[in-house]
Amino acid sequence: MKITVVGAGNVGAQCAYRLAQKQAGEVVLIDVVAGLPQGKALDMMQAGFIEGFSTKIKGTNDYKDTKDSNVVVITAGLARKPGMSRDDLISKNAEIIASIVKNIVQYSPKAILIIVTNPLDVMTYFAYKLSGFDHRRVFGMAPLLDAARMQYFIAEACGDANNIYAEVLGSHGDLMVPVPRFSTVKGKPITEILNPEQVNNIEQKTKNGGAEIVGLLKTGSAYYAPGSAAAHMAEAVAKDKKEVIGTCCYLTGEYGLSDVYIGVPAKIGRGGVEEVIELDLLAPEKKALHDSANAVKEICEKLTLPK
Ligand code: NAI
Ligand code: 2OP
Repeated sequence: MKITVVGAGNVGAQCAYRLAQKQAGEVVLIDVVAGLPQGKALDMMQAGFIEGFSTKIKGTNDYKDTKDSNVVVITAGLARKPGMSRDDLISKNAEIIASIVKNIVQYSPKAILIIVTNPLDVMTYFAYKLSGFDHRRVFGMAPLLDAARMQYFIAEACGDANNIYAEVLGSHGDLMVPVPRFSTVKGKPITEILNPEQVNNIEQKTKNGGAEIVGLLKTGSAYYAPGSAAAHMAEAVAKDKKEVIGTCCYLTGEYGLSDVYIGVPAKIGRGGVEEVIELDLLAPEKKALHDSANAVKEICEKLTLPK
């Protein structure tokens, strides 16, 4: 397996490092800044002698080194600064995604693409359209991260970090859809063990999870959990795990939605998105998912694809 991580910044480096630790395959780390991916790759391989892994990590500025990658994780782009919404990043990051996808299509025409760059749902749609790949081979990372954040806030409310599951659907933005009814502690929905105020608090904190970290860091956004989440998804493909993971997927009628990328559970394996899982949603949950998808669609319709 050959896994390329595009963007050797905060998220890309954490993703590459976790992949190296997981020994999911050979890793290539590419960035436009000369020396940055090379330096980080060397540092990681030297860490391998402490951590006990011997994964080859190639740092490069040349797409020839990414040739025939099986999986490509795209983390390149601008990150949020305090006061910026994810959507503020659209035009600059769309240009970056366009240049990267062109190179990936040329050098790794059979790759599975995992998009991380924000605004996530829009950039994933954009990468899909530009690549010309089957939609199952292009998907985005964020619902897994958003669910991890919700798990954290549930644990905080319950005072117990064990056996917690969280379900988060929708876009990676203000219209994210945490689903308390499907979020459980030891198999019991949180709606049965916490009061409505506590549940509402968990939902709000989950939606604000990224912004809270941006506000604290001041010079960038979260990267440990995002990098780990991207590596987890790349590993699921590389090792053909067929694991059900919250994924930003292209929908073709599931949940009554089509021609949009939005967060839903999906089985991830060597083929990419091998199955979209349809949860039995109540009318208000379905409406929230539709509102979220419609907002993403509206932005995508305004984007012009470069020739
Ligand atoms: P960063 O600024 O630390 O790293 C970005 C890297 O991309 C830089 O090293 C830069 O040189 C590189 N880059 C820029 N243009 C490039 C190009 N054309 N080709 C290759 N590399 C290029 O930013 P960070 O924190 O790593 O975030 C990266 C992106 O991921 C941002 O858009 C951020 O909003 C997004 N993000 C998405 C999350 C999600 O859940 N989907 C979570 C966290 C971040
Ligand atoms: C996050 O949720 C900013 O999307 C990034 O941390």
